[in-house]
Amino acid sequence: MSPVPDTALCELTTAYERDGWCTLPYRLGGSAVELLRDRVGAIAREVRPEVVWEKGGRVVRAVHGCHRFDEVCAALTRHPLLVELAEAFVGGPVYVYQFKVNLKQAHEGAAWPWHQDFSFWHREDGMPRPVAVNIAISLDAVHEGNGPLTVIPGSHRLGLQDPHTDGNDPGRSDWQRHVSADLAYTVTPQRAGELAGELGTRLITGPAGSLHAFHPSIVHSSSNNGSADRRALLLITYNSVRNVPPAPTRPEFLVDRNAAPIVPDDDRRLELNPL
Ligand code: SIN
Ligand code: MN
Repeated sequence: MSPVPDTALCELTTAYERDGWCTLPYRLGGSAVELLRDRVGAIAREVRPEVVWEKGGRVVRAVHGCHRFDEVCAALTRHPLLVELAEAFVGGPVYVYQFKVNLKQAHEGAAWPWHQDFSFWHREDGMPRPVAVNIAISLDAVHEGNGPLTVIPGSHRLGLQDPHTDGNDPGRSDWQRHVSADLAYTVTPQRAGELAGELGTRLITGPAGSLHAFHPSIVHSSSNNGSADRRALLLITYNSVRNVPPAPTRPEFLVDRNAAPIVPDDDRRLELNPL
């Protein structure tokens, strides 16, 4: 796998720093998407703490920390291109902080209210700075109707926007409220509306296998899935090895304690093709 050309890397980091998100010019091959879907499907059928259901039922909302026990998910986190891109976005060596797949099931997948990921990572885990990056990989085609991620470009440059910012920290909360539709830290609809009015919004759509990056501080949300199409989104959060929270208390499937720099390794089953 050849490395990302310098000019492409420079354009991507410029867009990421300016907008807080960007499309990555690669796509996961069809057989790799199938393999990951199979793995995620098998994990979702298990009853274990990493598998989270939608409120009041047994519809799987998300699976967490799969890189810690599934060898295909682990191999994906070591993909040389993903590691190279993550290192470029955070400016140095990285490790996997978090891994999850939000399944957003057809008809039943519930929304994610407006929020910033760094609210959770800073307030709950003590992550010092937002020097991390989310790499989002669509395992299904994502369109306007199946609850795409919606971002407010440029909002990552404005600091934390949740109401707990002015010395009004609520203290640590139940982690179930970090993975449910009833999120512990949100940006109010009023504030999100103001930001959207100033900066606009972008829907992150694309075919299965599409890749995007987004910043820990970007304000984002996604709506209920009212359509007949599932919208599974796999998210790998890479954190800088110089930005490790000193004493996190949340479960390890939400905050990986292994902060050793990830060693890239090519796995032929996980083909990433340039667009
Ligand atoms: C989503 O899956 O739509 C939300 C992802 C996130 O909040 O990081
Ligand atoms: Mn989020």
